[in-house]
Amino acid sequence: MKLLVFGQSGQVARELARAAPEAVFLGRDQADLSDPAACAAAIRAHRPEAVINAAAWTAVDRAETEEEAATVVNGVAPGAMARACADLAAPLIQISTDYVFDGAGTLPFRPGDPTAPLGAYGRSKLAGEAAVRASGARHVILRTSWVFSAHGANFVKTMLRLGAERPALRVVADQIGGPTPADAIATACLTLARSLRDGAVGGTHHFSGAPETSWAGFARETFAQAGRAVTVEDIPSSAYPTPAQRPLNSRLDCSALAADFGIAQPDWRAALARVIAELKGA
Ligand SMILES: NC(=O)c1ccc[n+]([C@@H]2O[C@H](COP(=O)([O-])OP(=O)(O)OC[C@H]3O[C@@H](n4cnc5c(N)ncnc54)[C@H](OP(=O)(O)O)[C@@H]3O)[C@@H](O)[C@H]2O)c1
Repeated sequence: MKLLVFGQSGQVARELARAAPEAVFLGRDQADLSDPAACAAAIRAHRPEAVINAAAWTAVDRAETEEEAATVVNGVAPGAMARACADLAAPLIQISTDYVFDGAGTLPFRPGDPTAPLGAYGRSKLAGEAAVRASGARHVILRTSWVFSAHGANFVKTMLRLGAERPALRVVADQIGGPTPADAIATACLTLARSLRDGAVGGTHHFSGAPETSWAGFARETFAQAGRAVTVEDIPSSAYPTPAQRPLNSRLDCSALAADFGIAQPDWRAALARVIAELKGA
């Protein structure tokens, strides 16, 4: 499959490069999502059979003060990509986020549930979803959550860094979700791209790791697996104020993805072991 990927240095993009090294990867230097027309032109120039957009403005707090710029990257650019894909009849896999929901309740959000982002990042990603749906391109919008890998900036690496400096950490315990390994997202995206190229019907889907946990639970498992004696103290979100409000309930119901595409939820604890081993070897 002639596959074009937006993104090169991000967590998911790097895992896509491991799983599908034959694909063409466009980093910021080759395609800046701040220039949506350039992204569409890149698709027309490469004439791929499928496109995966693994690039995004992921600075959640900075989006609060730079919403316009974040919306171009997360909202307008995916729309331009999708229209170019529609012209070529190439499917687009667009990665989205649990932050499109308000995090109310305790039930896992289903793909069709009403969206109500709490902040600018979620609004910008939701704009991208709407633009992709309106484009006429065959697509999957794959919402995921709490992404981690051995590369880039993520919670696991932050915890291991802070845990090396302090014997105890206070970590938010009232946000519940599914940590999701970037390598599993990459594999899911490749399966979806191939399936859509072969005629499968797309739509909006959820994909996150299992079982559900809190950030504090995620931190404890990280220290346990890394063999570090760091005490994790549970705190509420209110004790850790950030510019952007985070959803308390980030649970995603992933059953439709399993039913439609045979893609099961990964156990994030097994993936964490691989990531920690990779970090130790680094
Ligand atoms: N990280 C999470 O916890 C999380 C949770 C839910 C959903 N998601 C979604 O999952 C997807 C992948 O996230 P990730 O964790 O792999 O992200 P990441 O590691 O933060 O990487 C983001 C990538 O986007 C690129 N990028 C940012 N602005 C760009 C621009 N203007 N032009 C071109 N490239 C640009 C970055 O390039 P540079 O390296 O050059 O900056 C980087 O390669 C995104 O759609 C994200 O919204 C992530």
